[in-house]
Amino acid sequence: MITIQDITKSYGEATVVDGVFLNLPDAGVTSIIGPNGAGKSTLLSIVSRILGADAGTVAVEGLDVFRSPSKDVAKKLSILRQDQHTSARITVGELVEFGRYPHSHGRLTPECRAAVASAIDYCDLGDLTERPIHQLSGGQRQRAYVAMVLAQDTRYVLLDEPLNNLDMVHATGLMRLLRGLADTHGKSVVLVLHDINYASVYSDRIIAMRDGAVVQDGPPARVMTPEALESVYGMAFHVHELDGDRMAAYFR
Ligand SMILES: Nc1ncnc2c1ncn2[C@@H]1O[C@H](COP(=O)(O)OP(=O)(O)O)[C@@H](O)[C@H]1O
Ligand SMILES: [Mg+2]
Repeated sequence: MITIQDITKSYGEATVVDGVFLNLPDAGVTSIIGPNGAGKSTLLSIVSRILGADAGTVAVEGLDVFRSPSKDVAKKLSILRQDQHTSARITVGELVEFGRYPHSHGRLTPECRAAVASAIDYCDLGDLTERPIHQLSGGQRQRAYVAMVLAQDTRYVLLDEPLNNLDMVHATGLMRLLRGLADTHGKSVVLVLHDINYASVYSDRIIAMRDGAVVQDGPPARVMTPEALESVYGMAFHVHELDGDRMAAYFR
């Protein structure tokens, strides 16, 4: 479990994460939703030590992430950032090998090579390993970054808006892949999504943030209601049942 206690972050006068208490489970798919500026990325960045907090603690399976050696935390938790940038010159294979850095420090062990091969295979990148990152389509590039995170082989996999720029074919493919990671690899996948219908169909739990606070938290059946969604986004929603899933419509 990831235990987030009283995490607070301000920029000047603005408190963008406001005393958040949250437990993230050690398995399953957890989606974080909420309007732009709600503090979703800030919270994930703090949990993954990219950003310091003004107050509060984060523990991953009891390990205090702010006080523990970076490499110990990196063996438990990986993150795909919203603004992930990497030198365009590297190839897909090299990018995925980067994922092993916390384990290998640059020298790949046989175990590292196996993890890299398995991530490449799982993300269906076998034909692209020699290809420079900048020559990939958006969907391929996103899969390459996911493979890098998978190669790190952590129980907790955090992804900030991984569906960005993906068409529905690639978005659905990626969501199935992430669901599979939880189901067949026993991972805890925590991702920020804007498409609440993907969150509804693929998540075990949806956490909604607004103005730096958690305002909804529960299984899709509890969060995918017109009232709950309106409390998150401040607009009207219709929610319909479709093949056992709840779908929201919100186009006018
Ligand atoms: N480096 C920064 N300096 C000042 N304000 C920031 C900075 N980073 C984020 N913010 C502000 O914090 C708020 C939350 O941002 P963010 O966590 O990125 O929201 P979300 O990911 O939910 O869209 C926003 O109002 C944003 O403008
Ligand atoms: Mg964000």
